[in-house]
Amino acid sequence: MALHLLSLADFSGEDLAAYIDRAIVLKKEAAAGLRHDSLAGKTLGMIFEKPSTRTRVSFEAAMYGLGGQVIYLSGRDTQLARNEPLKDMARVMSRYVDGLVVRTFGQEVVEELAAYATIPVINALTDLHHPCQVLSDIMTVIEKRGPIQELVIAWVGDGNNMANSWIQAAARLGFELVLACPADYDPDAAILAAAQAEARRPISLVRDPREAVARADVINTDVWASMGQEAEEAERREVFAPFQVNDELLAQAPADAIVLHCLPAHRGDEITAAVIEGPRSVVFDQAENKLHIHKAILERHLATG
Ligand code: CP
Ligand code: NVA
Repeated sequence: MALHLLSLADFSGEDLAAYIDRAIVLKKEAAAGLRHDSLAGKTLGMIFEKPSTRTRVSFEAAMYGLGGQVIYLSGRDTQLARNEPLKDMARVMSRYVDGLVVRTFGQEVVEELAAYATIPVINALTDLHHPCQVLSDIMTVIEKRGPIQELVIAWVGDGNNMANSWIQAAARLGFELVLACPADYDPDAAILAAAQAEARRPISLVRDPREAVARADVINTDVWASMGQEAEEAERREVFAPFQVNDELLAQAPADAIVLHCLPAHRGDEITAAVIEGPRSVVFDQAENKLHIHKAILERHLATG
């Protein structure tokens, strides 16, 4: 049976750590000039119904870097745009390619594709989760600050797809996570409750961003309006203003706390230019690590798929 990657909750802590360990090795080997061909002869299909810079390019570069090839399809260029059933798309694509990377709106889309595909389906962002991103973010945290189980991670801003995936990662990997979100912009309640029920370290939700960063080793933020929420931008800008990651907020955090943002960033909204360009920001190393983690993911899911 194909091994899908739809959310981080589908995997044990050991599984999640294994992607990161492998990505760190692949990164070192690539830097040393080693060439990989573990996916030679394999083809990856990519269906994106939302825009992407990093995820698309890093998955494509990862696949080519492992000796494979890629077919990219923008959602609007397929018959999905004319309501072809997902279950047909899944079965047809399974006859052509060895794996599917999908970026879409509803989590139920990747779930239905996975239910009918005989090839691995990998979630490259839905409204509910961004699992591959959080794996590369954790890789970055480990590189910069050591074992994540000993750290306190803060999430400041929207309780969105990224926040949900961070919550699932915290439960599985056993690190402390403090989320500060405005009322009415909480993470998914069922995901939070399930994670809190199994967590070895606290996963807490607060309303004051200063409380979230007070003990933080890592401060994370993300856009205030995610893809698909463009109509809410003005309203969200008002609600989220007190949640901006700026020098004033960083002054409330330990002096060695690092700042992550999965990008794209809106300077002057969720993060100031001074912070994202400043010495605590690791956002470009974070972006690079998407390439290495995507190699580790493709290797695991497609080599055996
Ligand atoms: N972080 C991230 O997923 O970026 P893209 O939307 O550019 O893929
Ligand atoms: N939460 C953001 C992440 C972008 C990579 C969005 O869904 O648009």
